This record gives sequence, C-alpha cells and structure tokens, in this order.
Amino acid sequence: MAALPAHADDTVSRERLLMDSGWSFHLGDDWGSGQSLAKAGTGMGPANVSQSVASWRSVNLPHDWAIEMPFDPTADGSHGFRAVGEAFPQNSIAWYRRQFDLPDADAGKRLWLEFDGVYRDCTVFVNGWFVGHNESGYSGFRYDITDLARCGGRNIVAVRVDATQPEGWFYEGAGIYRHVWLVKTGPLAVAPDGVVVSSRFKDNVPVGGDEVHLEARLLNSQDASAEATVTWEIAEPGGKAFTTAARSARMKAWEAADLEQTAEIRAPQLWSPEAPRLYTLVTIVASGGRIVDRVETTFGIRTVGFDAQKGFLLNGKPYALKGTSNHQDHAGVGSALPDGLQYFRIARLKEMGDNAYRSAHNPPTPELLEACDRLGMLVMDENRLIGSDALHMDRLERQVRRDRNHPSVAIWSLGNEEFDTQGTPAGRRVAASMQALVKRLDPTRPVTYNAPVGNEFAGINEIIEVRGWSYHVGPDMDAYHQAHPLQPNVGSEQGSTVSTRGIYANDPVRGYVSAYDDNAPEWAQTAETWVTYFAPRPWLSGGFVWTGFDYRGEPTPYGWPCINSHFGIMDTCGFPKDNFWYYQAWWTDKPVLHILPHWNWPGREGQDIDVRALSNCDEVELFLNGRSMGRQAMAADSEIKWKVPYAPGVLSAKGFKGGRAVAETAVETTGAPAAVRLEADRAAFDANGEDVSVVTVSIADSKGRVMPVAGNEVSFELEGPGRILGVGNGDPSCHEPDTFVPVAPSRSIPIDGWRWRKVADAQPPNLPEEAVLFDDSAWEATDVRAAEGPLGPRGRAVFRAHFTVAAKDLEDPVVELWFGRISGGVATYVNGQRVGGSVDPRAPSVYDVKALLHPGDNVVAVADANWGTGQSGLSKGVELRLQGEPPAVQWKRSVFNGLAEVIVQSSREAGSLTLTARSDGLDPASLVLQSRAAKPRPAVQ
Ligand code: GAL
Repeated sequence: MAALPAHADDTVSRERLLMDSGWSFHLGDDWGSGQSLAKAGTGMGPANVSQSVASWRSVNLPHDWAIEMPFDPTADGSHGFRAVGEAFPQNSIAWYRRQFDLPDADAGKRLWLEFDGVYRDCTVFVNGWFVGHNESGYSGFRYDITDLARCGGRNIVAVRVDATQPEGWFYEGAGIYRHVWLVKTGPLAVAPDGVVVSSRFKDNVPVGGDEVHLEARLLNSQDASAEATVTWEIAEPGGKAFTTAARSARMKAWEAADLEQTAEIRAPQLWSPEAPRLYTLVTIVASGGRIVDRVETTFGIRTVGFDAQKGFLLNGKPYALKGTSNHQDHAGVGSALPDGLQYFRIARLKEMGDNAYRSAHNPPTPELLEACDRLGMLVMDENRLIGSDALHMDRLERQVRRDRNHPSVAIWSLGNEEFDTQGTPAGRRVAASMQALVKRLDPTRPVTYNAPVGNEFAGINEIIEVRGWSYHVGPDMDAYHQAHPLQPNVGSEQGSTVSTRGIYANDPVRGYVSAYDDNAPEWAQTAETWVTYFAPRPWLSGGFVWTGFDYRGEPTPYGWPCINSHFGIMDTCGFPKDNFWYYQAWWTDKPVLHILPHWNWPGREGQDIDVRALSNCDEVELFLNGRSMGRQAMAADSEIKWKVPYAPGVLSAKGFKGGRAVAETAVETTGAPAAVRLEADRAAFDANGEDVSVVTVSIADSKGRVMPVAGNEVSFELEGPGRILGVGNGDPSCHEPDTFVPVAPSRSIPIDGWRWRKVADAQPPNLPEEAVLFDDSAWEATDVRAAEGPLGPRGRAVFRAHFTVAAKDLEDPVVELWFGRISGGVATYVNGQRVGGSVDPRAPSVYDVKALLHPGDNVVAVADANWGTGQSGLSKGVELRLQGEPPAVQWKRSVFNGLAEVIVQSSREAGSLTLTARSDGLDPASLVLQSRAAKPRPAVQ
C-alpha cells in the first residue's frame, strides 16, 4: 500500500455545482420549437439570448408544473386528472431559462450541463445554440457545452419542455423535476460516470478478504498527448484510508483510456439494509507531476444473487425481499421531490420493515439511490421501456453506468408488463440483447423483468435470469417452478390491497375504499393472501408490494372524483393506512399491536363493529371500556377479528408473547374538534435552501386526541427564513390545490403611431435611422396591428415609433416591450440602445426595457430585411407590458380524517421559522422550526 497523496492541490479543477435556484419559468407554447434549422447559434423565442424573460415566474428546481394545474374530469385520469396532456396544449409545453456567469479562469476547462431528469421531451439551448434533445422523462442526460460557453461573461441556458405525450399510465409530472448540475473539469479528467467499483468474492459469498475491482475511464480532451496516472484511495466506514498502487496510460490527443486496478480489503465491513456501511473511493488522476482530477464515489461491499431454491441472497445468505414498488410523486410537490423528501419516504418504508424498493417503472433519480445507500434499502432499478434499438439501448446503458456503484442497487429490471411483446420471439430477442448489455456493464447484479403471466415460459421468461412475478399468486407459481427448477424467481409486483386511510366502508360515490385488508382488484391479492402464499416458498424470494405509497393517477377501483390510486400501504403524504401495521407486524421483529377501526361511531350504538388486530403477538385480548371481548390466538401472517357492539369509550388491546404481555394499545372515542396541532418530523433542519421539514397537521379534541373523522379546513402562515413547498392530506378524492402560485398583476399599453421608410441596407450597425434624434415625421404611417407587415420582397426598411411613458409605469418591477411579430427583423433599438438582433419571424419578440425607458417621450426603431418572397415588417401589434409585484398567497388545506401535511423548505438563512395554522372555531397552533446554519452544496450563483 502506498502513502496517501497530498490532498490540497490547487491544480485540481473539478467542480460539480448544483444549478437548481434562479430559473425563470413560462408555461405555454408561445414560441414554437425555438430551434433554427437554417443557421447555427440562432435559437429563437426564449432560446434567443436577447428575448426577455423578466415577466416569467421565478422557480427553483426541482419543479413540477403539473401539480399547479387544476383538476379536470375530462383530463387523463390515469395521470391524475390534471389539465395537462394532449387536450390541454397551453398547459403542456413550457420553457425554463437561467443565466449563469463563468469566470475567465474557466477558459480551457471542460464544461458539462447535467440533467438528472426532465419530464419530458426537452430541447436544451446554451447561448442561442442548440445543445441537445432528450425524450424520456426518466433518463439522466448531459451535454458538453465547452465550445459554446462564454468564460468571463454571462451565459444563458434555455430548456423547452414538452409534456404533451405521456410515457406511463400513472402521474408523471411535468418540467425540470430533478436536479440540474454544472460540472467543470480539467481537459484531462475522469469521464462522466467513468468510475466503476465492484466487489468480487469467491462463489459470491463475502467470507474473507474482498477483492475490490476498480476502473477509471479517462478523457484527454486536448490537442496534446498526455501521460496520466491513476491511484485510488479507499476510506473505510470508520475513516481509515489506504491508497492503491498506480496505473498509468499514455493517451493521444482526444483519446480515452480505461485503467483498472484491484485492491484487497482484508476484513470488509459489509453493507446491508440493517447496517448500511459505506466506503469512500477517491479516484485521483495525476499528469505532469500534478493532480488534475479527483472524483469521490461512495460504495458499499456486499454481494447479491439469486438461488433457484433459496431465493434472493444478500451477502451469501437467503434474504427475503420485503419490498414495495413505488412511483416517484408525493403530496404537495408532485414528482419534484427535494432530496429531504426522498429520505423521509425511505425512512417511512423502513419503519414498516420494508427492505427493498422497486423504482416502478423507470430509472429513479440518483438522490433516491443515495437515500437508499445511506439509510439501507435494496433497490430494484427498473428500466422504462424495452427495446434493443440504439435509442433504448443507449438509455439503458446510461442508467446502468450512472447507477452501478450504488450498493443499494441490487437487481436490474428490464421493464414491466409488456403485454403485447413479452411472449413473442421478438420480445425474447430484445430482452436477451438488453440483458446482455446490462451484464457487460455490470456482471455483479442479477437481471429480472416484471412478467404479468402465470405458468408461461415462451418469450422473455425463456431468457431472463430471474423470473419476475407480477401477481398470479397460486398454483401457476408452483407449476412454473417445477417446470423450470433452475430459474430463480422474485415477486416483482405483488399485493395489492386497495384502501383509504381512516375509512371503514366502501363508498363508491366519494371514491373511498375500506381500510380493512379486504379489497383487491381482480388481478391482485390482499396483503394476507400474497404474504401467506409466499411465506412457505423461499424460492420466490419475497416480493414488492404494489405500492408503498399511494400515487396520483390510476384511481383504482373508482374513477372521478378520485384522482389518485388506493394501492398504497401509506397515503400520498406518507400517513400509514392500517395495513402498514400488518406489514410491520410480519416484516419486523419488534412487538407490534395495532387495532382498527377508530372508535368514533355515533349513531351506531349497539351495532356490531368489525374490529381487527394487526400484530405479531401470539395472542391478543381485546377490551371495551375495560371488559374483555375475548383473547384470540394469532395465526402467522394473519390478523384477528372480533365483532364488537359499539359503545363509546375506550377500545383497548393487550398482546402476549409466550404468555407474557408485551404490547398494548387503545383507540378512544373523541370529543368534537377543538384545536389544530402541528408536529414536525424534524424540528431542526439545515439552512441550505434545500432541506425540508415535513409537518403533520392534526385536529384534536379538547383532550388532545386526534379526531379521526375531522375534515376541517386549515390555513397556514410561515414566518422566517423558508417557504411552504406544498400541502396535502392523502384524500384520494380531494381537489384542493397542492401548491399556491402567486400571479403577478399585469397590464399592457399599446404602442401605435408607427412610421416606416425603406433604406438601402438594414444590416449595418449605427444606422442613422435607429438613433433617437432622427426626424421621421415625413415617413409613411403603418398600422402594426395588421396581420402582415408592409414591406414587400427584398425590401429593407426601418420602422420607428414614439411613445410616452409615465413615471409610475416605470415603478413596476417588469417593463417589457412586446412585438406580436417582427418578420424580417435584424436589429431593434430602444432610445438608441440595441436590445436585440434577428428574431423568430413566427412568434412574438419580447425585450426587457425597464432600464432603457424614461418618463416622457421614448423612441423605438426596428431595422427589417425581407429576405423572403412574402410581406415583412411589424405586424400583430406592439405593446408595453407592465407587471407588478406578485401578491402574497394564502396557503390552506383541509385535513382528511384528522390529518394533513405541510412541507416546509429552508432558505440559506439560518434562524427560526414559525408555522401558524388556523381553522375556524378551533384553537390555532404554532410550531417553531430551527433552521441551523449549514453549508449549502456548491452551487451556480
Ligand atoms: C400493474 C402495473 C402497475 C399498476 C398496477 C395496478 O399491472 O404494473 O403499473 O398499473 O397494475 O394494479
């Protein structure tokens, strides 16, 4: 082992800067594609750098505009009835834009823009140049923008996002809903996703020393050849570190090199969901005696595999997958989850005993995987669509390269329920090609596919390494296993009970399903049915319940007014439904005892209520107001039922193990709502502008007991350094907003009185006709509101207008000059200052003129050149558009069955925040959150 190299070396130039704050956002398809196919670097509409975005809304990423849209019963229900999609063109395309400055010192570096995911079909421009187009809303992508960047100046990135076409059949969101990064490296550096670290043990069983396999792909992006040396530093979970021997390569100009090394770790500290121990790998690149790059990679040491008889193996031992499948949306924020919410959700799942997460049906955001690495959660990392064409293989390759160092990622899934193709020879061949690609990129993990078929082998099942079972619980599974005894199996999609939190009778009108473990769609099973079938069959490896959390869309079993699914073991806020305790009882070892339903049944006195205990105790005794209702034995993976004649009071239960009381619980009849209560999952959070605190809002009676049927509306105010990100309540039929977007007041002043005159040449700078003091009184008048401009083919002209502005107009924060159309525009001047060059002849041009105008007379001049054969010039109107300050918004949400959720996000300022909640006739509540001074992640300013 070599000595550690010095860390501090100012020649290391890699930076990875978060680019989430300070975006401008415009909803609406107002400028076409933005792409000019005729000339390079001439992006149009907002892709044109001179186009003003002053009136656009400011947003921070991650951002999902779909949750800002109203519900509409005519909208796509599978996506949650938001007014987005083909029938709502004005709501389905949007633009994002952001400025960023690059210092002179960045000249000579490689610069990359990285997107973790944009939903969907987006086009990216930098400084007016087209840089790339990405379709799938779930793939990360990056562009090398080195050649287009202005070092020592201002840069503009513009992104057009088109969410018209869905990819899935569930809520998907819309917009730049994952992080964006700016990455800077030296010209000789580790390639993007160029680090690979994996562990190899004999027979895939981690006994004895670990042989860590290390790879680094280097890029020499310069005209000169270079000698590069790589060393790898490995720090153990406790911090002890060592460095490997070096590997070197001589790289020609613009060449890549792959360097490999192995390192032995004698007594590896293994990673598992129960003990998520993480190592840090630093890949250090030196050249010419200097360190030129350092890349940090977190990894874990563990083995995963499947055995056809024993099922899933973690670290060489059988390990039942107690998993959930999940989509990526959450209450209040849609699909745009701050990282803190990823941690919140994974922690909730773990509390239930969940040890595995399937990212259905798409690659997850990298931050979800980080949360799983750190908190301890195995991941089935699923691809979106099967296909072995270049595009789909490229997406799959990007997914595997991006995710393969995460210890949490345990299984790749090629896809989900491809009904039309999975049983065909073509489907088989496509899946075989995909599986081979995955195995080439990552020989350490098994591959599956979620197959919604029974005892059928033809097609994908013939070639897939691990047979995935989507439902079909029962004899088909045994028959299949007998017929294919060498193929391992996994319950890749199982369950699923449909239920609504706090509801105990089906109500098709309001769209609620009882929370007893009684209802499942015809293709699915209740929790107890699938769990009891899987329990004696370890070869099935356990399974992934559909789903851990409710998600928007797929409002099974009812349609409108339901806008989200009922499959979750928790609702969209992460509030547990009763089945949470069923799984907790059978998925954890701690004593669990939960009884249902609540005990507020006025009017039902004397009537039998269906009472159940969810518990892993051997026996449970139930009491009503202290009187025993009977002690019953619990069968494994089951529940206990009583019929209890209702009387208000206390329903309590005691759980026994080996004859000893180990658990007790009670539900009580509450009084009327008396007070609002607030409770934060974390009362202190980081002042880094990203962290969140998830606050539970409840309605309590005068004794502080949560009122389980309350539906009061609550309004919220937040004071202090932070903001409310969103609100929710888990009600699958609630049409109240998740988020409140302020709409700034705006008005427009038409600019008429235009005159024009032909000129010999409209191109040269400093045309006298563009100056303020030019006598245009003899020029011909023109009506710029006409559909076409007055300038005929091959004409060259200047258009001028004088307009008066009042001092108070200039007090508005936004003053823009808006042209309906400048069809042959080559230059626009306001008060003698050039504001823009050539523009999109098909769409409005907008300039930020606030700083250029003054009270009184102002002059605007447009030089126009008609290169075409039609009419040119100004048309469709010219206006001054003024916009005031956006008003404050009133946040509010009703509680659903006693509970609601408020997600509060920190700013970068430390201090205390006070969240106040008020509801008519109830005592208000105030909650103080502490935002602790914290270093924000390195970010683009
Ligand atoms: C499955 C499918 C899921 C979801 C579920 C609803 O077949 O994979 O995406 O649609 O059904 O039960």
